[in-house]
Amino acid sequence: MSQEESGEFPEKPWGGRFSEPTDQAVERFTESISFDRRLWKEDIDGSRAHARMLRRIGLLSEEELTQILEGLDKVAAEFAGGTFPVRIEWEDVHMHVEKRLVHYAGPAGLKIHTARSRNDQVSLDLRLFVRREARAMAREVEGLLRRILLRAVEYRDLLLPGYTHTQQAQPISGGYYFGAYAERFLRDRDRLLRAAEDANLSPLGSGALAGTTLPIDREGVASELGCAGVTQNGLDAVGDRDFLLDFLHALSVLAVHLSGWAEEWVVWSTREFGLVRLPDRLLTGSSMMPQKKNPDILELIRGKSGRVFSAYSALLTLLKGLPLSYNRDLQEDKERLFEALDTARGCVSMMTLAVEGMRFEESRIAEVLRGTELLATDIAEDLVRFGVPFREAHAIVGRIVAHAYSKNIPLERLSDEDLRIYSDRFPENYAASLSIRRSVERRAHVGGPAPDTVGRRIAEIWRRLFENEPMAPSPKDVR
Ligand code: ARG
Repeated sequence: MSQEESGEFPEKPWGGRFSEPTDQAVERFTESISFDRRLWKEDIDGSRAHARMLRRIGLLSEEELTQILEGLDKVAAEFAGGTFPVRIEWEDVHMHVEKRLVHYAGPAGLKIHTARSRNDQVSLDLRLFVRREARAMAREVEGLLRRILLRAVEYRDLLLPGYTHTQQAQPISGGYYFGAYAERFLRDRDRLLRAAEDANLSPLGSGALAGTTLPIDREGVASELGCAGVTQNGLDAVGDRDFLLDFLHALSVLAVHLSGWAEEWVVWSTREFGLVRLPDRLLTGSSMMPQKKNPDILELIRGKSGRVFSAYSALLTLLKGLPLSYNRDLQEDKERLFEALDTARGCVSMMTLAVEGMRFEESRIAEVLRGTELLATDIAEDLVRFGVPFREAHAIVGRIVAHAYSKNIPLERLSDEDLRIYSDRFPENYAASLSIRRSVERRAHVGGPAPDTVGRRIAEIWRRLFENEPMAPSPKDVR
């Protein structure tokens, strides 16, 4: 069948067993070079470490190793420059690297695949890729966190309505608000770093599924690659994509957090809410309606998050029916991975711009706060202080709220006489003590919204992420 190509091995590594060339349609259907070329760096790094190991165990001479390493440098330069030849019959990135290596290194290149299969090779490439990209994503999330923490400091004392069910609930502070997102993205960052660590094992040596009779040094390869160790069962390792699921899970939770926040600001930047404004540079207009300023980036963060979840669910679906060990289905994992990663990265960078550029509409917020029932829970808790069981206090304040509503005045403007209609436990001058600011300041326990409590937690997160970098005195100096 296929010809030896100027000293190279036959077109297909398995040519010896076959009596006719692969059908062209099959080549097109089975290829993966069109997308797995993105793994070229990892593939070449793995090949370098593998070659050095083959030298250590005496399966390559010093000269052959040199030829291979120099050849791999040339192959790397081809990939980096985008000049490597794509041949669909070479299927995937692993065979392209090997073919080009043989082209440059000659007969020494024919030894690179000793004690190695594409099955352990692709697993290694993916693990190294996830290790690098999960760490890089964690850095991106830290960039977002930096902006969030600076806004938390800047708006630490701003009073805001807090919502549950999108209904006004209790007053909070701006620091508490941004602090909530800081907690979420801090967990996302930690989840990404854990995904990087979990991926960081070398499967090389698993071979196709059952190892090799050759005297390989797996630990040596792993430590050269900076891996924490080696996988412990080749039959498992070649078909294991748990580390990819973990990474896509981490990306999915990140995307959920971004999407929910984007939705919140879409609503908060409407005229009806009017709590948040994005700068013009982040808004888009309408081709027909001259007055429009649209928060398209927020809508797209919300919209694109679906790509990340669907990649995760596609990977689960891909894996759910696979018997041990490697199955070609697994080739379908890569595009899911790349799409989830690229989408999540784009969304983080847009949200970073939005956080940096947004401002609260403070006069509108003050207006909202003037006409609320946000102190209802505080009044009920005060009644508890005055000796009323909470369930009764809750009912009393419910009646007070209805009273205020029928008189069309905000709860905190009711007089002592109004309050006493519903309970004689209210002391003198109680009504005058009601204040939204005081309400926030009173909830100073750990996890509460009091500005000092929030300030301490923000500083703690800042120190954890940025260590000795001092927190900017004014966020405006940093922006
Ligand atoms: N392109 C393949 C993948 O992505 C590499 C492993 C192929 N192994 C095999 N025996 N066909 O999974």
